[in-house]
Amino acid sequence: MSADQGRTILQLGGVHLSFGSREILCGVNLEVREGEVVVLIGASGSGKTSLLRCINLLNMPRSGRIAINDETIFEAGLSDNGVSKIAPAEVNRIRSKTGMVFQQFNLFPHMTILENIMEGPVIVKKEKSSEVEMRARALLKQMGLVDHASKRPAQLSGGQQQRVAIARALAMRPTLMLFDEPTSALDPELVGEVLKAMVELARSGMTMVVVTHELGFAFEIADRVVFLDRGMVIADGPPQQLLLQPDHPRLKSFVNRFHETADMLRPFLEAK
Ligand SMILES: Nc1ncnc2c1ncn2[C@@H]1O[C@H](COP(=O)(O)OP(=O)(O)O)[C@@H](O)[C@H]1O
Ligand SMILES: [Mg+2]
Repeated sequence: MSADQGRTILQLGGVHLSFGSREILCGVNLEVREGEVVVLIGASGSGKTSLLRCINLLNMPRSGRIAINDETIFEAGLSDNGVSKIAPAEVNRIRSKTGMVFQQFNLFPHMTILENIMEGPVIVKKEKSSEVEMRARALLKQMGLVDHASKRPAQLSGGQQQRVAIARALAMRPTLMLFDEPTSALDPELVGEVLKAMVELARSGMTMVVVTHELGFAFEIADRVVFLDRGMVIADGPPQQLLLQPDHPRLKSFVNRFHETADMLRPFLEAK
């Protein structure tokens, strides 16, 4: 959280991404400092997922520059019409700098929870199994899942599975965590436990970029909210400013829809 003078962990400069002739990201600039939590909002189709996927090179930009921890991981010339010119081993190394949590948990169904968490460090990074297991068990504790180590994903609720997915990403010791609508696939009663785990992670100092429609989460923990509109960052600032005093017309209508929904629901919630 809040790191005004922290060093820069993530830097995007003029990132352009196209699919065929369609421009999806139109020169995105974004800077995230160590320990900062940035919540990325925007309408469906505005490019939020595409942007996260550029940061771990699942999408190859057409031009621009991306740096993590002062290391340039992408710059103009490293892709040819979006096709990577970076060697696969190098892509894997770069990818391990970021931990990604998706809407769908994507756990390995045939492995236990503990095996799911250990898989990356042991198989991909060739770390010593006994050391990884200690780390994995500590992460299970952090996520409130100690009793579930030897279960399979299908035996867990969606909220528990998503916390396993967070633990699995953290096991790789990423510099930066990326979340893409991590609570959107969950039953409403399970959203809170995942958000709570994310709040605790943020408080522990993890640098995070979070795509979410949970504006309450943004208020609680975000240092900055970034509004993406048609592939462009059109607002970037503290949550109070962006969400309560939106000054751009499209941001205003985006935010108002959430406030209207909340207002509409209030009588029902209060009656409960
Ligand atoms: N692999 C792809 N090929 C072609 N178009 C894509 C692909 N992925 C995303 N898009 C398009 O890019 C735009 C942005 O999508 P996305 O990044 O998923 O938006 P968001 O996450 O904000 O909803 C959408 O119009 C989508 O249809
Ligand atoms: Mg998306």
